[in-house]
Amino acid sequence: MPCLPGGHRILPVKHFVDTQDFSREELSELVGLILLLKEADRDGAVPDLLRGRSLGMIFEEPSTRTRVSFEVAMVKLGGHALYLKPGEIHLGKRESLYDTAKVLSRMCDVIEARTLEHGTVVELAADAEVPVINGLTDYNHPTQAVCDLFTISEHLPPGRRLNECTVVFVGDRTNVCSSTMFIATQFGMNFVHAAPAAYQAPPEWVEIATANCADSGGSVAVTEDVEAAVAAADFVYTDLWWWVDQEDEIPARRAVFMPRYQVNEELMARAPEHAKFMHCLPASRGVEVTDAVIDGPRSIVFDQAENRLHAEKGILVWLTYPTLGPPASPKLRQHYEDRVHDYLSQVGWEVATARP
Ligand code: CP
Repeated sequence: MPCLPGGHRILPVKHFVDTQDFSREELSELVGLILLLKEADRDGAVPDLLRGRSLGMIFEEPSTRTRVSFEVAMVKLGGHALYLKPGEIHLGKRESLYDTAKVLSRMCDVIEARTLEHGTVVELAADAEVPVINGLTDYNHPTQAVCDLFTISEHLPPGRRLNECTVVFVGDRTNVCSSTMFIATQFGMNFVHAAPAAYQAPPEWVEIATANCADSGGSVAVTEDVEAAVAAADFVYTDLWWWVDQEDEIPARRAVFMPRYQVNEELMARAPEHAKFMHCLPASRGVEVTDAVIDGPRSIVFDQAENRLHAEKGILVWLTYPTLGPPASPKLRQHYEDRVHDYLSQVGWEVATARP
Protein backbone atom coordinates (compact mmCIF):
# COMPACT_ATOMS: atom_id res chain seq x y z
CA MET A 1 0.00 0.00 0.00
CA PRO A 2 1.51 3.41 -0.95
CA CYS A 3 2.90 5.73 1.68
CA LEU A 4 1.88 9.36 2.00
CA PRO A 5 3.93 12.26 3.29
CA GLY A 6 3.35 12.31 7.02
CA GLY A 7 1.28 9.16 7.32
CA HIS A 8 0.66 5.59 6.28
CA ARG A 9 -2.28 4.30 4.28
CA ILE A 10 -4.50 2.01 6.25
CA LEU A 11 -7.35 1.60 3.71
CA PRO A 12 -7.44 1.15 -0.07
CA VAL A 13 -7.79 4.33 -2.16
CA LYS A 14 -11.34 5.26 -3.23
CA HIS A 15 -11.94 7.64 -6.15
CA PHE A 16 -14.99 9.81 -6.78
CA VAL A 17 -15.53 9.62 -10.53
CA ASP A 18 -19.23 8.71 -10.79
CA THR A 19 -21.98 8.36 -8.18
CA GLN A 20 -22.81 5.08 -9.90
CA ASP A 21 -19.61 3.67 -8.36
CA PHE A 22 -21.25 3.91 -4.92
CA SER A 23 -24.26 2.30 -3.31
CA ARG A 24 -27.19 4.30 -1.96
CA GLU A 25 -26.01 3.40 1.55
CA GLU A 26 -22.53 4.77 0.86
CA LEU A 27 -23.91 7.99 -0.65
CA SER A 28 -26.28 8.37 2.32
CA GLU A 29 -23.29 8.01 4.62
CA LEU A 30 -21.56 10.79 2.65
CA VAL A 31 -24.62 13.05 2.88
CA GLY A 32 -24.63 12.54 6.68
CA LEU A 33 -20.99 13.65 6.79
CA ILE A 34 -21.79 16.74 4.68
CA LEU A 35 -24.57 17.66 7.13
CA LEU A 36 -22.20 17.26 10.08
CA LEU A 37 -19.52 19.44 8.46
CA LYS A 38 -22.10 22.08 7.50
CA GLU A 39 -23.16 22.26 11.16
CA ALA A 40 -19.50 22.55 12.18
CA ASP A 41 -19.09 25.44 9.73
CA ARG A 42 -22.15 27.20 11.15
CA ASP A 43 -20.48 27.00 14.58
CA GLY A 44 -17.13 28.18 13.16
CA ALA A 45 -15.67 24.89 14.34
CA VAL A 46 -14.65 22.84 11.31
CA PRO A 47 -12.10 20.32 12.63
CA ASP A 48 -8.69 20.34 10.92
CA LEU A 49 -9.01 16.72 9.79
CA LEU A 50 -6.70 17.33 6.81
CA ARG A 51 -4.09 19.39 8.64
CA GLY A 52 -1.00 19.88 6.51
CA ARG A 53 -2.52 17.90 3.62
CA SER A 54 -2.44 19.00 -0.02
CA LEU A 55 -5.09 18.95 -2.75
CA GLY A 56 -3.90 19.18 -6.37
CA MET A 57 -6.65 20.78 -8.47
CA ILE A 58 -6.42 20.26 -12.24
CA PHE A 59 -8.73 22.51 -14.29
CA GLU A 60 -8.86 22.16 -18.07
CA GLU A 61 -11.90 24.47 -18.06
CA PRO A 62 -12.84 27.57 -16.06
CA SER A 63 -14.72 27.28 -12.80
CA THR A 64 -16.04 29.48 -10.03
CA ARG A 65 -17.91 27.18 -7.65
CA THR A 66 -15.84 24.02 -8.01
CA ARG A 67 -12.51 25.78 -7.71
CA VAL A 68 -13.47 28.04 -4.82
CA SER A 69 -15.40 25.39 -2.89
CA PHE A 70 -12.55 22.86 -3.03
CA GLU A 71 -9.90 25.42 -2.13
CA VAL A 72 -11.88 26.91 0.76
CA ALA A 73 -12.87 23.43 1.96
CA MET A 74 -9.21 22.38 2.16
CA VAL A 75 -8.25 25.52 4.10
CA LYS A 76 -11.14 25.02 6.54
CA LEU A 77 -10.00 21.41 7.07
CA GLY A 78 -6.46 22.58 7.84
CA GLY A 79 -4.88 21.76 4.48
CA HIS A 80 -4.26 23.70 1.31
CA ALA A 81 -4.93 23.47 -2.42
CA LEU A 82 -2.86 24.03 -5.56
CA TYR A 83 -4.56 25.36 -8.71
CA LEU A 84 -3.02 23.53 -11.68
CA LYS A 85 -4.13 24.62 -15.11
CA PRO A 86 -3.07 23.64 -18.62
CA GLY A 87 -0.12 25.66 -19.82
CA GLU A 88 1.22 25.66 -16.26
CA ILE A 89 1.52 21.89 -15.88
CA HIS A 90 2.50 19.30 -18.47
CA LEU A 91 -0.75 17.29 -18.30
CA GLY A 92 -1.08 15.01 -21.31
CA LYS A 93 1.08 17.22 -23.56
CA ARG A 94 4.73 17.19 -22.55
CA GLU A 95 4.07 14.49 -19.95
CA SER A 96 1.76 11.48 -19.99
CA LEU A 97 -1.32 11.32 -17.79
CA TYR A 98 0.26 8.27 -16.15
CA ASP A 99 3.37 10.20 -15.13
CA THR A 100 1.27 13.17 -13.96
CA ALA A 101 -0.86 10.87 -11.80
CA LYS A 102 2.20 9.18 -10.29
CA VAL A 103 4.00 12.46 -9.57
CA LEU A 104 0.97 14.18 -8.03
CA SER A 105 0.37 11.06 -5.91
CA ARG A 106 3.83 11.46 -4.37
CA MET A 107 3.27 15.12 -3.49
CA CYS A 108 -0.46 15.54 -2.88
CA ASP A 109 -2.84 13.65 -0.63
CA VAL A 110 -5.85 13.99 -2.96
CA ILE A 111 -6.42 15.16 -6.54
CA GLU A 112 -9.43 16.98 -8.04
CA ALA A 113 -9.70 17.17 -11.83
CA ARG A 114 -12.05 19.00 -14.21
CA THR A 115 -11.26 17.66 -17.63
CA LEU A 116 -12.67 18.13 -21.12
CA GLU A 117 -12.98 14.38 -21.65
CA HIS A 118 -14.34 11.91 -19.12
CA GLY A 119 -11.65 9.41 -20.11
CA THR A 120 -8.98 11.73 -18.72
CA VAL A 121 -10.37 11.57 -15.18
CA VAL A 122 -10.88 7.83 -15.50
CA GLU A 123 -7.24 7.41 -16.56
CA LEU A 124 -5.95 9.66 -13.78
CA ALA A 125 -7.93 7.64 -11.24
CA ALA A 126 -6.60 4.36 -12.67
CA ASP A 127 -3.01 5.52 -12.27
CA ALA A 128 -3.13 7.67 -9.13
CA GLU A 129 -2.22 6.32 -5.70
CA VAL A 130 -4.31 8.94 -3.88
CA PRO A 131 -8.05 9.66 -4.25
CA VAL A 132 -9.09 11.37 -7.50
CA ILE A 133 -12.27 13.47 -7.50
CA ASN A 134 -14.10 14.26 -10.74
CA GLY A 135 -14.77 18.01 -10.80
CA LEU A 136 -16.83 17.80 -14.06
CA THR A 137 -16.24 16.15 -17.40
CA ASP A 138 -18.11 16.06 -20.70
CA TYR A 139 -20.11 13.14 -19.24
CA ASN A 140 -20.99 13.95 -15.64
CA HIS A 141 -20.65 16.17 -12.56
CA PRO A 142 -20.82 13.90 -9.50
CA THR A 143 -19.79 16.46 -6.85
CA GLN A 144 -22.62 18.72 -8.07
CA ALA A 145 -24.99 15.73 -7.89
CA VAL A 146 -24.15 14.93 -4.27
CA CYS A 147 -24.49 18.62 -3.40
CA ASP A 148 -27.89 18.73 -5.14
CA LEU A 149 -29.11 15.62 -3.34
CA PHE A 150 -28.15 17.28 -0.06
CA THR A 151 -29.85 20.55 -1.07
CA ILE A 152 -33.01 18.72 -2.12
CA SER A 153 -33.06 16.93 1.24
CA GLU A 154 -32.96 20.35 2.94
CA HIS A 155 -35.93 21.59 0.86
CA LEU A 156 -38.27 18.59 0.82
CA PRO A 157 -41.96 19.43 0.55
CA PRO A 158 -43.53 19.24 4.04
CA GLY A 159 -44.13 15.65 5.15
CA ARG A 160 -42.49 14.12 2.09
CA ARG A 161 -39.44 11.91 1.77
CA LEU A 162 -36.86 11.92 -1.02
CA ASN A 163 -38.39 8.85 -2.66
CA GLU A 164 -41.75 10.61 -2.84
CA CYS A 165 -40.41 13.52 -4.90
CA THR A 166 -40.15 14.32 -8.60
CA VAL A 167 -37.26 16.19 -10.23
CA VAL A 168 -37.97 17.63 -13.68
CA PHE A 169 -34.84 18.59 -15.60
CA VAL A 170 -35.73 21.06 -18.35
CA GLY A 171 -33.42 21.68 -21.30
CA ASP A 172 -30.23 20.27 -22.77
CA ARG A 173 -28.80 16.82 -21.85
CA THR A 174 -25.81 18.30 -20.07
CA ASN A 175 -23.33 16.57 -17.78
CA VAL A 176 -25.39 17.91 -14.86
CA CYS A 177 -28.49 16.34 -16.44
CA SER A 178 -26.86 12.90 -16.47
CA SER A 179 -25.60 13.19 -12.90
CA THR A 180 -28.95 14.45 -11.61
CA MET A 181 -30.72 11.63 -13.44
CA PHE A 182 -28.43 9.02 -11.90
CA ILE A 183 -28.46 10.22 -8.30
CA ALA A 184 -32.21 10.94 -8.27
CA THR A 185 -33.00 7.42 -9.48
CA GLN A 186 -30.45 5.90 -7.10
CA PHE A 187 -32.50 7.46 -4.28
CA GLY A 188 -35.90 6.31 -5.55
CA MET A 189 -37.03 9.67 -6.88
CA ASN A 190 -39.02 10.20 -10.07
CA PHE A 191 -36.84 11.87 -12.70
CA VAL A 192 -38.18 13.42 -15.90
CA HIS A 193 -36.04 14.96 -18.62
CA ALA A 194 -38.14 17.46 -20.60
CA ALA A 195 -36.39 18.56 -23.79
CA PRO A 196 -36.77 18.77 -27.57
CA ALA A 197 -36.22 15.31 -29.11
CA ALA A 198 -32.72 16.04 -30.43
CA TYR A 199 -31.49 17.13 -26.98
CA GLN A 200 -33.02 14.41 -24.82
CA ALA A 201 -31.05 12.06 -22.57
CA PRO A 202 -29.64 9.22 -24.70
CA PRO A 203 -30.80 5.60 -24.28
CA GLU A 204 -27.59 4.58 -22.50
CA TRP A 205 -28.27 7.10 -19.69
CA VAL A 206 -31.90 5.96 -19.46
CA GLU A 207 -30.68 2.36 -19.24
CA ILE A 208 -28.50 3.21 -16.23
CA ALA A 209 -31.33 5.16 -14.58
CA THR A 210 -33.82 2.35 -15.26
CA ALA A 211 -31.51 -0.13 -13.54
CA ASN A 212 -31.29 2.26 -10.58
CA CYS A 213 -35.10 2.42 -10.46
CA ALA A 214 -35.40 -1.39 -10.43
CA ASP A 215 -33.46 -1.29 -7.18
CA SER A 216 -34.75 1.96 -5.65
CA GLY A 217 -38.41 2.04 -6.75
CA GLY A 218 -38.01 5.37 -8.56
CA SER A 219 -38.93 6.16 -12.14
CA VAL A 220 -37.33 7.76 -15.17
CA ALA A 221 -38.98 9.34 -18.20
CA VAL A 222 -37.99 11.48 -21.16
CA THR A 223 -40.51 13.74 -22.84
CA GLU A 224 -41.00 16.78 -25.05
CA ASP A 225 -44.10 17.69 -23.02
CA VAL A 226 -42.46 20.13 -20.61
CA GLU A 227 -45.79 21.60 -19.48
CA ALA A 228 -47.14 18.22 -18.29
CA ALA A 229 -43.79 17.31 -16.70
CA VAL A 230 -43.53 20.52 -14.70
CA ALA A 231 -47.12 20.09 -13.46
CA ALA A 232 -45.91 17.13 -11.36
CA ALA A 233 -42.56 18.62 -10.28
CA ASP A 234 -41.32 19.14 -6.73
CA PHE A 235 -38.05 20.45 -8.14
CA VAL A 236 -37.59 22.11 -11.55
CA TYR A 237 -33.92 22.02 -12.59
CA THR A 238 -32.28 23.60 -15.62
CA ASP A 239 -28.78 24.19 -16.98
CA LEU A 240 -27.10 26.12 -19.80
CA TRP A 241 -28.36 25.51 -23.35
CA TRP A 242 -24.86 25.71 -24.79
CA TRP A 243 -21.32 25.54 -23.46
CA VAL A 244 -18.27 27.48 -24.67
CA ASP A 245 -17.36 24.92 -27.35
CA GLN A 246 -20.93 25.00 -28.76
CA GLU A 247 -21.10 28.69 -29.61
CA ASP A 248 -21.47 28.01 -33.33
CA GLU A 249 -24.68 26.11 -32.46
CA ILE A 250 -26.29 29.01 -30.58
CA PRO A 251 -28.82 30.05 -33.26
CA ALA A 252 -30.01 26.46 -33.81
CA ARG A 253 -30.19 25.70 -30.11
CA ARG A 254 -31.96 28.95 -29.25
CA ALA A 255 -34.52 28.29 -31.98
CA VAL A 256 -35.40 24.85 -30.67
CA PHE A 257 -35.40 25.62 -26.91
CA MET A 258 -36.95 29.12 -26.92
CA PRO A 259 -39.56 29.88 -25.73
CA ARG A 260 -41.05 26.52 -24.75
CA TYR A 261 -38.18 25.22 -22.60
CA GLN A 262 -37.23 28.48 -20.89
CA VAL A 263 -37.94 28.31 -17.15
CA ASN A 264 -39.93 31.50 -16.73
CA GLU A 265 -42.82 32.55 -14.49
CA GLU A 266 -45.33 31.12 -16.93
CA LEU A 267 -43.72 27.67 -16.84
CA MET A 268 -43.21 27.77 -13.04
CA ALA A 269 -46.91 28.72 -12.65
CA ARG A 270 -47.73 25.23 -14.00
CA ALA A 271 -45.76 23.57 -11.16
CA PRO A 272 -47.25 22.86 -7.73
CA GLU A 273 -46.97 25.87 -5.39
CA HIS A 274 -44.31 24.21 -3.24
CA ALA A 275 -42.04 23.37 -6.23
CA LYS A 276 -38.51 24.80 -6.03
CA PHE A 277 -36.27 26.03 -8.83
CA MET A 278 -32.70 24.66 -9.13
CA HIS A 279 -29.70 25.54 -11.33
CA CYS A 280 -26.10 24.38 -10.90
CA LEU A 281 -24.85 27.78 -12.18
CA PRO A 282 -23.37 29.52 -14.04
CA ALA A 283 -26.69 30.64 -15.55
CA SER A 284 -27.40 32.57 -18.72
CA ARG A 285 -30.07 34.89 -17.37
CA GLY A 286 -32.78 35.58 -19.93
CA VAL A 287 -31.87 32.43 -21.84
CA GLU A 288 -32.66 29.12 -20.05
CA VAL A 289 -34.07 30.97 -17.02
CA THR A 290 -35.48 34.42 -16.40
CA ASP A 291 -34.40 36.82 -13.64
CA ALA A 292 -37.88 36.60 -12.12
CA VAL A 293 -37.47 32.85 -11.53
CA ILE A 294 -33.80 32.66 -10.53
CA ASP A 295 -34.21 35.61 -8.13
CA GLY A 296 -37.73 34.61 -7.08
CA PRO A 297 -38.94 33.04 -3.82
CA ARG A 298 -38.95 29.50 -5.21
CA SER A 299 -35.30 29.60 -6.25
CA ILE A 300 -32.77 27.63 -4.17
CA VAL A 301 -29.81 28.21 -6.50
CA PHE A 302 -27.64 30.01 -3.95
CA ASP A 303 -28.32 27.34 -1.34
CA GLN A 304 -27.04 24.89 -3.97
CA ALA A 305 -23.96 27.06 -4.54
CA GLU A 306 -23.18 27.34 -0.81
CA ASN A 307 -23.69 23.63 -0.38
CA ARG A 308 -20.91 22.96 -2.87
CA LEU A 309 -18.55 24.08 -0.10
CA HIS A 310 -20.07 21.71 2.47
CA ALA A 311 -20.26 18.89 -0.07
CA GLU A 312 -16.57 19.29 -0.97
CA LYS A 313 -15.62 19.21 2.73
CA GLY A 314 -17.59 15.99 3.08
CA ILE A 315 -16.17 14.38 -0.07
CA LEU A 316 -12.57 15.34 0.81
CA VAL A 317 -12.88 13.95 4.34
CA TRP A 318 -14.81 10.85 3.28
CA LEU A 319 -12.22 9.83 0.70
CA THR A 320 -9.04 11.03 2.37
CA TYR A 321 -9.27 11.14 6.17
CA PRO A 322 -9.92 7.40 6.76
CA THR A 323 -6.88 6.50 4.64
CA LEU A 324 -4.44 8.62 6.63
CA GLY A 325 -2.53 7.45 9.63
CA PRO A 326 -2.58 9.47 12.86
CA PRO A 327 -0.80 12.84 12.66
CA ALA A 328 2.71 12.99 14.04
CA SER A 329 2.82 13.87 17.74
CA PRO A 330 4.23 17.27 18.81
CA LYS A 331 7.05 15.26 20.46
CA LEU A 332 8.00 13.63 17.14
CA ARG A 333 7.89 16.98 15.33
CA GLN A 334 10.15 18.46 18.01
CA HIS A 335 12.51 15.51 17.65
CA TYR A 336 12.96 16.27 13.93
CA GLU A 337 13.27 20.01 14.52
CA ASP A 338 16.04 19.32 17.05
CA ARG A 339 17.81 17.02 14.60
CA VAL A 340 17.64 19.61 11.81
CA HIS A 341 18.91 22.30 14.19
CA ASP A 342 21.80 20.11 15.31
CA TYR A 343 22.64 19.04 11.76
CA LEU A 344 22.78 22.60 10.42
CA SER A 345 24.89 23.69 13.42
CA GLN A 346 27.30 20.80 12.85
CA VAL A 347 27.80 21.69 9.19
CA GLY A 348 28.71 25.24 10.14
CA TRP A 349 25.52 27.28 10.11
CA GLU A 350 24.92 29.71 12.95
CA VAL A 351 21.29 28.80 13.48
CA ALA A 352 19.51 31.88 14.77
CA THR A 353 16.39 30.07 16.02
CA ALA A 354 16.12 30.45 19.79
CA ARG A 355 16.37 27.03 21.43
CA PRO A 356 14.37 26.20 24.55
N1 CP B 1 -21.70 24.33 -10.97
C1 CP B 1 -20.39 24.42 -11.27
O1 CP B 1 -19.68 23.42 -11.41
O2 CP B 1 -19.92 25.68 -11.34
P1 CP B 1 -18.44 26.08 -11.84
O3 CP B 1 -18.35 25.75 -13.32
O4 CP B 1 -18.34 27.55 -11.56
O5 CP B 1 -17.46 25.26 -11.06
